Amino acid sequence: MTTSVLFVCLGNICRSPLAHGLFAHHVQTLGRASEFVVDSAGTSGYHAGELPDDGSIREAARHGLDITDQRSRRLVARDMDAFDFVIAMDTSNLRNIRRVGSLPPERLFRIRDFDPEALEFDVPDPYGGGPGGFRRVYEMLERSMDPLLVHIDHHGPR
Ligand code: 4NP
Repeated sequence: MTTSVLFVCLGNICRSPLAHGLFAHHVQTLGRASEFVVDSAGTSGYHAGELPDDGSIREAARHGLDITDQRSRRLVARDMDAFDFVIAMDTSNLRNIRRVGSLPPERLFRIRDFDPEALEFDVPDPYGGGPGGFRRVYEMLERSMDPLLVHIDHHGPR
C-alpha cells in the first residue's frame, strides 16, 4: 500500500518541483521510498512539458538533488481523486486547487502550514528573480519536510 503525495504551485516549474524533489529525497534517505508515490503539478498549464526553472535546478543541485527528470504538467480533476495528499505552495494555489476538486483539510493544505518557523504561510514565488529567492524557498521547504511526513504518516492513505 503506497501513499501518494502531489505538490502544487502555479507554473510547476519553480516551487513544486523543489518540494517534489525534496520530499522524494527525504523518504529515500529514510529508506522509505517504496512507500510513496510523489508527483507535482501546476494550477496553470503555462509551462506544460517544460523542465523545472534553471533557478530550481541549480538550487536543488547545490543540495545534491537532481530534479531534471521532472516535466511541468497542469493539475487535472482526476488528481483530486487519485492522490492521498495534495499540498499547495501558497494560498492562491489552494483556492485554485479547490476549483478543480475537493479534499478534506487534512489532505489538502499549504506546505508552510508545517513550517515550524513560519510567520506567514505562503512560499513566495521566486519566478523571474535571483538565486536568493530560490534559496529561501528551498530553506522553507526543507524545514517543512519532517513535520509534513509526521502528518502524512498519521493520516495515511485514503
Ligand atoms: P511556480 O512559479 O508557480 O513556483 O512554478 C511560476 C512560474 C511561472 C509563472 C508563475 C509562477 N508564470 O506566470 O509563467
